[in-house]
Amino acid sequence: MAARSWSPFSCCVGGGAVADDYDDEYPSPRRIRRRGKGSPAGSSSSSRMSLRSLSSSGTLSPEDLSLMLSGSNLHAFTYAELRAATANFSRANYLGSGGFGPVYKGAVDDRFRPGLAAQDVAVKYLDLECGTQGHKEWLAEVFFLGQLRHKNLVKLIGYCYEDEHRMLVYEFMSAGSLENHLFKSKINGSLPWMTRVKIAVGAAKGLAFLHDADTPVIYRDFKASNILLDSDYNTKLSDFGLAKDGPQGDETHVTTRVMGTHGYAAPEYIMTGHLTAKSDVYSFGVVLLELLSGLRSVDRARRPREQNLVDWARLYLKRSDRLYKVMDPSFECQYSCKGAEVAAIVAYKCLCQNPKSRPTMAEVVKALEPVLTLEDFFPIGPFVFTVIVEEDKVVDMKVKVEEKDPQHHQNPEDMHRQKYPDSAIHTGSMLHGRDGLITGYNGAQRRKQMSSSCHMERGGIGLG
Ligand SMILES: Nc1ncnc2c1ncn2[C@@H]1O[C@H](COP(=O)(O)OP(=O)(O)OP(=O)(O)O)[C@@H](O)[C@H]1O
Ligand SMILES: [Mg+2]
Repeated sequence: MAARSWSPFSCCVGGGAVADDYDDEYPSPRRIRRRGKGSPAGSSSSSRMSLRSLSSSGTLSPEDLSLMLSGSNLHAFTYAELRAATANFSRANYLGSGGFGPVYKGAVDDRFRPGLAAQDVAVKYLDLECGTQGHKEWLAEVFFLGQLRHKNLVKLIGYCYEDEHRMLVYEFMSAGSLENHLFKSKINGSLPWMTRVKIAVGAAKGLAFLHDADTPVIYRDFKASNILLDSDYNTKLSDFGLAKDGPQGDETHVTTRVMGTHGYAAPEYIMTGHLTAKSDVYSFGVVLLELLSGLRSVDRARRPREQNLVDWARLYLKRSDRLYKVMDPSFECQYSCKGAEVAAIVAYKCLCQNPKSRPTMAEVVKALEPVLTLEDFFPIGPFVFTVIVEEDKVVDMKVKVEEKDPQHHQNPEDMHRQKYPDSAIHTGSMLHGRDGLITGYNGAQRRKQMSSSCHMERGGIGLG
């Protein structure tokens, strides 16, 4: 059922054939507002309509929109329905707010629409003060997510377009945003290495899908807060309000007003307004660096030369002997060294100043996916190796991994040196001798130490 009524809330999208004419009144302080110069499920089908073709259609009524999206399975909800779904937009259901407006948890089922599966949803309610810019972002999001389906893009279930109300109804992502996990909530501890790699691979696949579509899409707002996670940390990109059709035919770029988020936007895009898929690749590099380091892309609370993460960290990324300076200390050395080196090089390449030197997102996926299989981890903490010998015969042998003793924590650099005297990034493993001695070892040293401790036990002498 379409929304009951509507007001002509100035519904024009774009103006020129290539340049967009988004208004400059977006209220979010985090958004860049400098003027520049200028498919069906799971596949990159050619049937997607371009946003530019919508530009030519001028003012769009709810009925037009509903007609245009008739093949998309999107539901046009009424205001009353979404108010009911969210318990009158109650505080208890409030999930947070961004530049677009507040977001509420809700629930829908087949009482709303025949055949609609019972499910939790997130309802994003456009703040009226966003004016026409907010409306354009809302429309762009309905337009793109109405036509694109992929396991790494958040699913848009429906929308509301009624009077002054503009809402977006998404599948509910129970683990919230990557930003919350990485920088805000430490309730469940920091994200483990493999989870971060899984998130990076999922997000890269989402971008690769957009870029490789027959009518390519540039996402333009890739950042930690727009990466949503479900209970298994599956990754989905959300917020398509700034998305643009990519260059078509002989075009090398799209010229747009510069919009995006400080700290994530590519330097050439900020300078010229020239947008290509490689602008998204740069933003991906920033998020990958945030995943490796646990640090925000920009943080005024850090020392001046470290405030901009890319400026400070980029050169360390290609030096395996310096990478430990970048790696998040909260990993407590529980990550694959080889994997970290691969991910760091990918981030380094994505962050190239020259967009042509950056990899494509398909290449990024190809490079990062194997990292999921690298498990050259170290035991969680010191381990105790005990051998019980009776009459020259080993009767029991135990290797026990223990909790780390915080008093014996070494700094990452020391551990790195012990583990890799001549290269690589920090990591460490600690062997507990029976006398309580703690030492860092590499694999070969550890094996030697274990066999020598065994030998000592056989002789009935404690490890010295
Ligand atoms: N589909 C969803 N499922 C669960 N939570 C969501 C969903 N969409 C958004 N949220 C949550 O709602 C809050 C606001 O999200 P929103 O995307 O509006 O803002 P933002 O990404 O923080 O900022 P920006 O406006 O710059 O994108 C965030 O905490 C986000 O995690
Ligand atoms: Mg967002």
